[in-house]
Amino acid sequence: MQGLGQRIAEAADLVTVALDELLPRAEGPESRLTEAMRYAALGPGKRLRTFFALETGKMFELPERSVLRSACALECIQAYSLVHDDLPCMDDDDMRRGRPTVHKAYDEATAVLAGDALQTAAFEILAHPDTHPDGAIRAEMVMKLAQASGAKGMAGGQMIDILGVREDLGGVARMQRLKTGALIAAAFELPLIMARASEGERHALMAFAHDLGLAYQIVDDLLDAGGDAKVLGKAVGKDAARGKANFVTLLGVEAARERLGVLAKQTKSHLEPFGAKAEFLRASVDFVLERRN
Ligand code: IPE
Ligand code: IPE
Ligand code: MG
Ligand code: MG
Ligand code: MG
Repeated sequence: MQGLGQRIAEAADLVTVALDELLPRAEGPESRLTEAMRYAALGPGKRLRTFFALETGKMFELPERSVLRSACALECIQAYSLVHDDLPCMDDDDMRRGRPTVHKAYDEATAVLAGDALQTAAFEILAHPDTHPDGAIRAEMVMKLAQASGAKGMAGGQMIDILGVREDLGGVARMQRLKTGALIAAAFELPLIMARASEGERHALMAFAHDLGLAYQIVDDLLDAGGDAKVLGKAVGKDAARGKANFVTLLGVEAARERLGVLAKQTKSHLEPFGAKAEFLRASVDFVLERRN
């Protein structure tokens, strides 16, 4: 049987090739913008949202081409969110995916514009008839991705993060669900829409995505506290220094790790209705927990 690592690497290769084809190239002075977009989106990301989408597509026997285009849209939003997250007015980071951040490699104005244009590229890709022949399905996916990215999703969560509101753990969980969980959930929701999945299937997979998203961000916060910047490809120790509120800065490393263990079991339990078809998704929970970058 193919290993999980190989499966994730294949997903990453597929989406990078597809993005390379789909992202615009320009002649003339605006080529600075398209180059910065490509620099951000084609960099060596883990592409885990793509992997989640492709796995869900396989579970429902969807055409790979359609799911891959939806994954390209997800990765454009992911890249845009990171470009803006790294800006001096946000987290002020110099390294991302092992390379200088976009505002360092280019400049701030270019980074803002590259983020903007990556965001709209996501919706252009999703709305294109090549993504799905049924316009109603495409419209539903566009709405879902917009909700996941906007004020009640990633952007809203980023606002709470930037405000540094030191709330209780419930408040932190809500912030995490918005800033990271919503886009991870969309990686499952877009294929679920294409599959016209039943309410029961949707419900189970959304519960999985919800817990997985929370676990994903807790691991990110643990890596910020104790990871290796070289392996991570981004700076560490920033969250405590900047007074960010997250499970690790609020609870400490040990308590956050304990929570993660409980959460991991709960996350996997949501996949029971899918049996063997979900074996790679099940294994990916441990992968997320054990990741070092
Ligand atoms: C980083 O996301 C920001 C978070 C939401 C935790 P990833 O860790 O998935 O980053 P890439 O896409 O692999 O670079
Ligand atoms: C960012 O969270 C989440 C996004 C929506 C981009 P972080 O600010 O913790 O992500 P890193 O650590 O810079 O990747
Ligand atoms: Mg941030
Ligand atoms: Mg950041
Ligand atoms: Mg972080």
